Amino acid sequence: MNITVIGTGYVGLVSGTCFAEMGHDVTCVDVDEEKVSQLSSGEVPIYEPDLDRYFERAREENRLHFTTDLAKGVADAKIVFFALPTPPGEDGSADLSYVLDAAGDVADLLVGETDSEYRIVVNKSTVPVGTGDRVESVFADRGLEIGTEVDVVSNPEFLREGAAVEDFLKPDRVVIGTESDRAAEKMERLYEPFVRQGNPILVVDRRSAEMIKYAANSLLATRISFMNEIANVCERVGADVDKVRLGIGKDHRIGPNFLYAGIGFGGSCFPKDVKALARKGRQEGYDFQILDAVLDVNDQQRRRLAEQAKDYFDGDLAGRRVAIWGLSFKPGTDDTREAPSHVIIDELLDQGADVVGYDPEAIETTRGTFGDQIDYADGKYEAIDDAEALLICTEWHEFRRPDLGTVREHLDNPLVLDGRNLYDPARMAEMGFEYHSVGRPSYAPETNREAIEEAIVENGQP
Ligand SMILES: NC(=O)c1ccc[n+]([C@@H]2O[C@H](COP(=O)([O-])OP(=O)(O)OC[C@H]3O[C@@H](n4cnc5c(N)ncnc54)[C@H](O)[C@@H]3O)[C@@H](O)[C@H]2O)c1
Repeated sequence: MNITVIGTGYVGLVSGTCFAEMGHDVTCVDVDEEKVSQLSSGEVPIYEPDLDRYFERAREENRLHFTTDLAKGVADAKIVFFALPTPPGEDGSADLSYVLDAAGDVADLLVGETDSEYRIVVNKSTVPVGTGDRVESVFADRGLEIGTEVDVVSNPEFLREGAAVEDFLKPDRVVIGTESDRAAEKMERLYEPFVRQGNPILVVDRRSAEMIKYAANSLLATRISFMNEIANVCERVGADVDKVRLGIGKDHRIGPNFLYAGIGFGGSCFPKDVKALARKGRQEGYDFQILDAVLDVNDQQRRRLAEQAKDYFDGDLAGRRVAIWGLSFKPGTDDTREAPSHVIIDELLDQGADVVGYDPEAIETTRGTFGDQIDYADGKYEAIDDAEALLICTEWHEFRRPDLGTVREHLDNPLVLDGRNLYDPARMAEMGFEYHSVGRPSYAPETNREAIEEAIVENGQP
């Protein structure tokens, strides 16, 4: 089947590539000429595990095409997906201009056709409840017959960056929001190969589908902020949040996922989606109080490492070299949108610190934001050369088991502020680090030099 995906970012490129993997002929349309020319010449512009493998195969088999020409994309498509940005507007509500403008452009093309065939327009962008109705009106207002010439469907996307291909190919569930049996049947057929292991395709009304996406992201963000608050109390009462997590995660009503304390959520979705749902509630006369608290807690948590560093140096970070391990908002991606590391870097720069960052994949995206305001290291140990503090912001695998003896040698001052709870606090103290993590006890560093060196020899690894 011919499929068109409009918007070739994280969601659009992964969706297009995975539909092509299932044998469809996919055209991806984007307004970014540079991106389209990169993709057309076989270059994947984002980092996402396994994406390049599937992308290459689809291109070799001539099933994946890229264009800036919307007319070319829409001409033969049976299904047109929108994977367009929905950034927060100034008041926190989702900016729908990309989606509504694209709907207008597609509608104009369909009106111009002589023998207009039935098409499904599918919204994969995260949009507030009622957006599908607005998109449908765009088509109806141009005289296109809903149900005969076009149906507008909501199909929210739940992929996680860092595991996007895996999630797309084997989704926990597929949600299809439509009141049209014809559209539902075609969409179910499209997704059947993705749920062969028995995960459900849920066909619901369009408004509920739109709400499912916001409810899912808001609940996940709430779990994170909740655990961060538990961690903050743990620190004050001498409890260990990691043990608390294990204890509550075993409760079947709670489950083990999304219970990690840390330095707050980031990324292109959670912050904006929580804001958008809170805003939508307010527009409808409902004060969604929990979500305001979730955002406040997150703002506070994301600044935490910078504040700890500032306190440690008695408020004077000017000219001090501070190293950051992990710049992406989570491991497995080069995406730094709303990354906690960037909030921390902003704070450190405000304080006059001399910042050096290292990340296995997100150096270039970070350079796009900070340019030469900070230094970039080629490796994790280079990053900490002569640094007076190491701040850990993203839990990439390579940060989980560093040679702590080497870390100790490279650092000018043994301060490690770990926003991801990667190491054992007692061992870190034993090795002479001043080590603080989130929601766990800190121990005074072992100051006897001999004992430290012995510990380094014996416990090269944490
Ligand atoms: N990134 C995620 O993890 C994720 C997961 C689920 C849902 N979503 C939602 O999916 C949507 C897209 O997110 P994303 O992260 O892929 O965004 P993105 O910013 O990575 O990609 C959007 C793409 O759309 C292109 N674009 C903008 N206007 C266009 C137009 N008129 N025609 C064609 N292309 C156009 C941009 O050039 C860009 O390449 C958002 O609503 C987001 O909330 C994202």
